[in-house]
Amino acid sequence: MRTKIAGIGHFVPEHVVTNQDLTSYMDTTDEWIRERTGIEERRYATKHKESTTSLGAKAARIAIERAGIAPEDIDFIIFATLSPDYYFPGCGVLLQRELGVTSKEVGALDIRNQCSGFVYGLSIADQFIKTGMYKNILLVGAEMHSMGLDFSDEGRAVTVIFGDGAGAVVLQPADKEGQGILTTCLHSDGTHAEELAMINPGSHGGYHLGTEKFGYPDPATPGGVFVTQKMMDDNLLSPNMTGQLVFKTAVVKFPEVINEALTKVGLTTTDIDVFVPHQANLRISQFVQKVLRLPEEKVVNNIQKYGNTTAASIPIALSEAWEQGRVKEGDLVCLAAFGSGFTWGSA
Ligand code: ACO
Repeated sequence: MRTKIAGIGHFVPEHVVTNQDLTSYMDTTDEWIRERTGIEERRYATKHKESTTSLGAKAARIAIERAGIAPEDIDFIIFATLSPDYYFPGCGVLLQRELGVTSKEVGALDIRNQCSGFVYGLSIADQFIKTGMYKNILLVGAEMHSMGLDFSDEGRAVTVIFGDGAGAVVLQPADKEGQGILTTCLHSDGTHAEELAMINPGSHGGYHLGTEKFGYPDPATPGGVFVTQKMMDDNLLSPNMTGQLVFKTAVVKFPEVINEALTKVGLTTTDIDVFVPHQANLRISQFVQKVLRLPEEKVVNNIQKYGNTTAASIPIALSEAWEQGRVKEGDLVCLAAFGSGFTWGSA
């Protein structure tokens, strides 16, 4: 038995933030951002009115409707995000409540695999469907990055890249020959975990990282060090990224994991009809496209409009491509992601 995407949808907030808009907060330029990342604008959700879960719910409702089912038909929820509403509980249960499916008390799972969260979620859902455990799985990737970014000059290299948005799919057993997910490949290497990370607040307490540098001035203090004054003073509560290491690793791992999936199912890159990469950076996508020798029209890129929306980027791009008629019945679609962890994967 295979798993198919029965319905797909996406939602991005209305508020458009251009590169030019960012220049009023930090020392940057439209030219620098476009040249390095390909990004022209991104969307920011409305503070206090929207959240990662509310964005996810909007995308989920579209996917559910397109699958021709009702929210009550969902029998399992998977939510992928790195920018959850709460430290705990996860967004899965909040989404369940927001969709009004509490009566069935279905399971809700949160996964924290950052940029590859959607591919990981797809693989998990695929296993549940294949074993016959569930029939209608709702998988959501959503992010509200704008709340956690550093808008000072110090944070500019990271902040200009990210945007808010959500994408969702409903997964069901495939009903036609040849239809559905052929395979998924998942990988990780924690060697460089801190090179693309937001390590505070967390339980590490500076453990093996150097307490001073990470905002834990007094290791002897019991408790109460999740968020310290030093973290706030030293601007240690936002994401950090070693950009060049991420770039260099991503352009190797993307082709590797795509070829792994193709080899597993006896296909080659020339068989790919549509390639939807995680929208990390337009330069990374272009590099991968070149290595795989894919013609430009087969590659879906929308980072120009939305920035990098992490776990939401693949379902948003796939949903848009499907709406535009770029994904048709019978097409071989390749998804691939790489990100923080490092974690990476393909489908
Ligand atoms: N505006 C203007 N100048 C900036 C900005 C900015 N937003 N950010 C950094 N700079 C400056 C730096 O301060 C530095 O100045 P200096 O030379 O005076 O010291 C200069 O630009 C070059 O900085 P680098 O960090 O060396 O810039 P680089 O050419 O590596 O580009 C970038 C940075 C775009 C992040 C690049 O490394 C990259 O594309 N990395 C891949 C990371 C990525 O795409 N991450 C996406 C998220 S992770 C994921 O989804 C996989």
